[in-house]
Amino acid sequence: MPTRRTVIAPSLLSADFARLADAAQQVSGEADWLHVDVMDNHFVPNLTIGLPVVKSLKAATPLPLDCHLMITDPKRWAPGYAEAGAYNVTFHAEACDDPVGLARDLRAAGAKAGLAIDRDTPVEPYLDLLPEFDTLLIMTIKAGFGGQAFIPELLDKVRAARRVAGDLELRIEVDGGIAADTIEAAAEAGADAFVAGTAVYGAQDPAAAIRRLRGLVDDATTPEPDR
Ligand code: DX5
Ligand code: ZN
Repeated sequence: MPTRRTVIAPSLLSADFARLADAAQQVSGEADWLHVDVMDNHFVPNLTIGLPVVKSLKAATPLPLDCHLMITDPKRWAPGYAEAGAYNVTFHAEACDDPVGLARDLRAAGAKAGLAIDRDTPVEPYLDLLPEFDTLLIMTIKAGFGGQAFIPELLDKVRAARRVAGDLELRIEVDGGIAADTIEAAAEAGADAFVAGTAVYGAQDPAAAIRRLRGLVDDATTPEPDR
């Protein structure tokens, strides 16, 4: 199986919201995607940014925008992010009663389609839908806030998804508490895209923090040479 490049997606949630373009610039040589957490104060208690800011970011950085919509009624709002040029638009399974229909709308609008599974939601009911998606985002915390502690038990969902993903062109992304002490376990479970907020923007040197995380994934996923 050809190995695909690991995706490291720093989360702007831990950046300075008054300097988002600078935050994008700080990681532009190292990050694969820029993770944008959209929270609406309904689906989650927190409130962050929305479509106007995503449009401005799109103009401010060449990095692919990985929009993680923690919002109610994604059927209504998510296609606008695809139309604005987001690379990947991920909505929550808990907020949508027609995930396949919305995935098709997102793909038709030119974006990759992502399905997010929050802490308390089992992944099994969604495994049959994976061919309709480009990204499966497994929360490794409860969605809503940065800086929470990683929950290792949630990697069982990553393992279950990786087992059925087979030859699908599916990214399995983990989000929440991903840092130098947790990323290897996530990689070993089968994740190949890693969101990191605090671990990147809380670091003195965000670009160096990304290099370190990528190195840890490479070490965890490179087979030992035969002797
Ligand atoms: C939280 C967000 C995450 C957040 C992760 O609901 O989805 O993307 O930025 O932050 P850390 O990496 O600090 O856990
Ligand atoms: Zn996120």
